[in-house]
Amino acid sequence: MPIRALDVDPAHCLIAGKWTPCASGALLPLINPSDGSTLCEIARGNADDIDRAVAAARAAYDGPWGRATAVERGRILYKIGVLVLENIDAMAQMEALDVGKPLSQARADVVALARYMEFYAGAVDKLHGQTIPYLDGYTVYTLREPHGVTGHIIPWNYPMQIIGRSVGAALAAGNTAVLKPAEEACLTALAFGELARRAGLPDGALNVVPGLGAEAGAALTTHSGVNHISFTGSVGTGRLIQQSAAQNVVPLTLELGGKSPQIVFDDADIEAALPFLVNAGIQNAGQTCSASSRILVHRDVYGEVVSKMAEKYAALRAGPAMADMALGPLVSARQKEIVEGFLAKGADLSMIAQGEITDDAPAGGAYIAPTLFEAVPQDHVLAREEIFGPVQVIIPFEDEAEALEIANGTDYGLVASVWSRDGARQMRLARKLRSGQVFLNNYGAGGGVELPFGGSGLSGHGREKGFEALYGFTTLKTVAAYHG
Ligand code: NAI
Ligand code: MG
Repeated sequence: MPIRALDVDPAHCLIAGKWTPCASGALLPLINPSDGSTLCEIARGNADDIDRAVAAARAAYDGPWGRATAVERGRILYKIGVLVLENIDAMAQMEALDVGKPLSQARADVVALARYMEFYAGAVDKLHGQTIPYLDGYTVYTLREPHGVTGHIIPWNYPMQIIGRSVGAALAAGNTAVLKPAEEACLTALAFGELARRAGLPDGALNVVPGLGAEAGAALTTHSGVNHISFTGSVGTGRLIQQSAAQNVVPLTLELGGKSPQIVFDDADIEAALPFLVNAGIQNAGQTCSASSRILVHRDVYGEVVSKMAEKYAALRAGPAMADMALGPLVSARQKEIVEGFLAKGADLSMIAQGEITDDAPAGGAYIAPTLFEAVPQDHVLAREEIFGPVQVIIPFEDEAEALEIANGTDYGLVASVWSRDGARQMRLARKLRSGQVFLNNYGAGGGVELPFGGSGLSGHGREKGFEALYGFTTLKTVAAYHG
């Protein structure tokens, strides 16, 4: 088990800088979805552990982390990033085994985690207030101050990237943090806690409490000692968390996934688009909040795009994470069931291509063959709901107005892309698409650590990543001084 290379026993919580068993002593099995085996046991944290973690975070906020200057915080974050990269092999293996993510995709996530640390390390001493011209005899200025103790509920699909963007920005801005990773995958969250400790992060500034959503998760999001909540996950759980944030009247960021479209016009460079059209649907076996699950194609190039995508699909292989194929298994047998349920609802559709599950994939693994449907009506359930598996639908359109109507026609609004050589059309659509991010002639290129990210509608609210996240993790104080 690669986490033991860091001397971390995964059956522990990190609270106040110490690895401790959870209060109840209860454990949960952590499953390797590539073969269904048990990787190890993790702590089943509960409300008592969350209480201790929030108290430790408060003490660190009132103590060394709250007192640290932006430069000092930045140096520690940078060092965490260095340690993350030094441990890239172990971190990538942990994520691959735990999430079922192909090893090279897990490796890319380690690099992204380090990039978040670098970015926020360098950004935080550039975060400043303003002076405001006011009445005669006054000087007015604003101060950006941390919220205090922040709670982070993260999912299992990209643990490292989401820790980077959420915990990284929160700590940089001077908050302390309690992190509740997902019960399906939490090894890299524990490893991150250990690396942060080794980098000199003061005890209690980051606490990691694994456990179930309904237990440790709910205890964290309803805790009256938490001053800000970040959540990435399902719409249903997001609603519950927004309700508990309302009870305590605390700000929150919700990132709840999407049904993100790519729009291919007749003047598009189709060869350039193709790898993005397919990869954005099957990366991490489609379990990506910003997955592009809808491909909208102009009638004049419809046949060409459909046949070229089908050709790519036929060559896709799913296999064990460590075999590093295009796809691994899904994260769990439960997630596989969810996706199979959607595929059953697509029985009336035209399924044009499927990749294969490799022969040596263990029978106990949660594999799904990547599946492509064409001529899908825009109101079909597979064209409206987030599937969170390697399934894409192709939808034809006649003109720009129809493309826009279909693209904006779901309850989500996270990411969209436009493939066209017409600059004016790119600009029009970039304005009119209801989406937190719009890519023109690419889709998610470069990972986007620097790029503000978040949704509208059911995709959630608030912005993460980039400099913008630092605004979300701070509150603004206005100081008005009368000096005559
Ligand atoms: P989930 O939203 O229930 O779980 C995500 C995180 O929330 C986990 O850490 C979980 O322990 C925690 N959680 C669950 N219930 C909670 C509660 N009552 N209070 C506080 N925390 C709680 O999502 P799940 O069940 O893992 O996946 C179901 C579906 O959600 C997927 O099929 C997918 O459609 C969507 N999803 C979207 C993600 C995204 O990136 N936007 C990530 C994960 C899931
Ligand atoms: Mg797992």
